[in-house]
Amino acid sequence: MAKRTFRIWRGNKDGGEFQTYTEEVSTGMVVLDVLHRIQAHQAEDMAIRWNCKAGKCGSCSVEINGKPRLSCMTRMNSFTEDETITVQPLKTFPVIKDLVTDVSWNYKQNKRIKPLAPKKRDADGNHRMFQEDVDRVQEFRKCIECYLCQDVCHVLRDRDGQDNFVGPRFMIRLASLEMHPLDTADRIPAIKNEYGSGYCNITKCCTEVCPEHIHITDNGIIPLKERVVDRFYDPIAMLLRKVRGDKKHA
Ligand code: SF4
Ligand code: SF4
Ligand code: FES
Repeated sequence: MAKRTFRIWRGNKDGGEFQTYTEEVSTGMVVLDVLHRIQAHQAEDMAIRWNCKAGKCGSCSVEINGKPRLSCMTRMNSFTEDETITVQPLKTFPVIKDLVTDVSWNYKQNKRIKPLAPKKRDADGNHRMFQEDVDRVQEFRKCIECYLCQDVCHVLRDRDGQDNFVGPRFMIRLASLEMHPLDTADRIPAIKNEYGSGYCNITKCCTEVCPEHIHITDNGIIPLKERVVDRFYDPIAMLLRKVRGDKKHA
């Protein structure tokens, strides 16, 4: 056991400040364990959101020493022994209380996205897909909706950006639908005009913080941007589409 110092943001939507706590830390603890210990011994009214403590529910997202992290997956031994650990709520979303933010804006973005529209089954009643097509979208299905990528995205950090861009989490949801081998819906015009793909300048900060190691930019956002370019800016593809009467991919 060793005593460690934490600075934790305490407050609500009207404002707040960092408070300093010193707490005993045992071998093997993660930041969420220490937050619980502080809550039990020193700050009973401190609000923390968590659920699984296994990196799977996406609830315990906070900023630790300025970086978006899951508190249940951040081991205390990743810090030096004399380091003060600063914990604060996600900056991109409004604070409810202490470390808990209101992430409901994200659920609204999800509702705006056209769901899967599967093509008709084959004559024998089956759907058929190539394994490589299934593998491609499987990566995107690993998302635990922790919104760490949304938190770090500089477009969304600027609250005006939230009017224009759905953010990386929903770009990969769009990618999972657009690349789905059975899907027939056309979301490319909306990806450009409503969901704001042009606002992403591929800084890859979202990919760096994703706890599921999803290649958000390389495998999701960039291919979607390429489809937008093919559709709206490639004259040969546009001509071919016109000749063929295609509505969807060029
Ligand atoms: S790559 Fe795009 S979506 Fe990801 S953080 Fe940067 S601007 Fe945001
Ligand atoms: S893409 Fe990664 S960082 Fe973004 S919400 Fe999903 S799991 Fe979290
Ligand atoms: S508590 Fe579920 S991801 Fe951390």
